[in-house]
Amino acid sequence: MARGNQESMSSATHPDYRPGLEGVIGGITKIAEINSASATLTYRGINVHELAEKSTYEETAYLLINGRLPTAHEFEHYKRTLAHERPIPESVSNILKLIPRNIHPMDALKVAYSALAAYDPDYAAAPTDHAANVRKAERIIAKAATIVAAHWRICEGKEPISPDPELDTAANFLYMLSGERADEETVKVMDASLILYAEHTFNASTFANRVTVATLSDLYSGIVTGIGTLKGPLHGGANEEAMRMLLEIGTPENAEPWLRSALAGKKKVMGFGHREYKNGDSRAAYLTKMAKKVAEKKGVPKWVEIGDIMTKIMVEEKNIHPNVDFPAAYAYYMLGIPIDLYTPIFVIARVAGWSAHAIEQLDNNRLIRPTCIYDGRSGVPYVPMADR
Ligand SMILES: CC(C)(COP(=O)(O)OP(=O)(O)OC[C@H]1O[C@@H](n2cnc3c(N)ncnc32)[C@H](O)[C@@H]1OP(=O)(O)O)[C@@H](O)C(=O)NCCC(=O)NCCS
Repeated sequence: MARGNQESMSSATHPDYRPGLEGVIGGITKIAEINSASATLTYRGINVHELAEKSTYEETAYLLINGRLPTAHEFEHYKRTLAHERPIPESVSNILKLIPRNIHPMDALKVAYSALAAYDPDYAAAPTDHAANVRKAERIIAKAATIVAAHWRICEGKEPISPDPELDTAANFLYMLSGERADEETVKVMDASLILYAEHTFNASTFANRVTVATLSDLYSGIVTGIGTLKGPLHGGANEEAMRMLLEIGTPENAEPWLRSALAGKKKVMGFGHREYKNGDSRAAYLTKMAKKVAEKKGVPKWVEIGDIMTKIMVEEKNIHPNVDFPAAYAYYMLGIPIDLYTPIFVIARVAGWSAHAIEQLDNNRLIRPTCIYDGRSGVPYVPMADR
């Protein structure tokens, strides 16, 4: 149904109906909170900026799953567990070698997690077994970067590189892509972006993930659902589309005419706008600052300059602010990350949020099944095939 019809039906006959479920409360969570008015995001009550500044992706993942920061002893143990769980079974690596090489890495991630479910030692555990779900979450979180890097290298005609047990997620991902250890600043930008991408309440992929596990399915099925939902350009796929748009714009001089023409043509500008933030995305502000530092260090100011021009016009003309995917796009580009990996990097981070939500859902489960408005024909007789 066209959106216009949805809206007229909404106001005329069904005042409670909200197209796109805008503003509808889909559940209760203790994992994260978005405050739209102040443009702040907290994970388990801690401001995400503070986490990006002081924490690591691993510690943030522990916080999301377990509800509190780990002690030093707990964190050492957690890091050892993740290091142990990072390698993927050779058969899963072989599956990645067998599938067509021209598919998007997001589709390879769906294949890999579907296969990994079968190798999980807790495969037969009950879907509501909390301890087993926490162990599954550790395996899911540990393996994401390994899958993405292995698939990328296979597509490049190279052998996958085994994870280095000494490195954390961000550093390991960069190492498994190239075979070389990245410098500290590059790792810090990658790590902070993973923290910022790790969780975001009832966004489309997290909601879809909760719907899946709420049927008493399993965590891996929820992850596969999440990946499929994140792939689209209105959600996680926006970071790749934003970079392609910036490349098309090409120069700061072209930013304003390009954008004005796009707006006149009612084009969606990728990396701008958000259902929950109308005063700006807290994560975007933080990542823009980081991207500016990268631009200075690398002596490549143009993406930031284009970004600033676009931001100013979008806010002035439409009151629409950049979301996290906009600075993420040009930050990753300046770090030399291939564009097709931007949304998979989002997955490397978001598996923590998805797992935390799946566990929260299954700890206190009720089937998620909304209702709908029927707007089709009624009383239609069945016409036999020969009479049609
Ligand atoms: C994120 C997004 C899907 C939110 O969608 P939403 O809450 O349903 O908001 P709508 O698409 O209904 O947008 C409301 C209005 O703002 C406009 N708008 C929203 N985002 C826009 C954008 N990025 N570029 C241009 N116009 C935009 C819409 O065209 C619409 O205008 P209209 O009322 O004149 O038709 C939307 O902002 C978007 O498509 N952004 C680009 C993709 C993106 O960056 N996604 C990542 C999100 S983290």
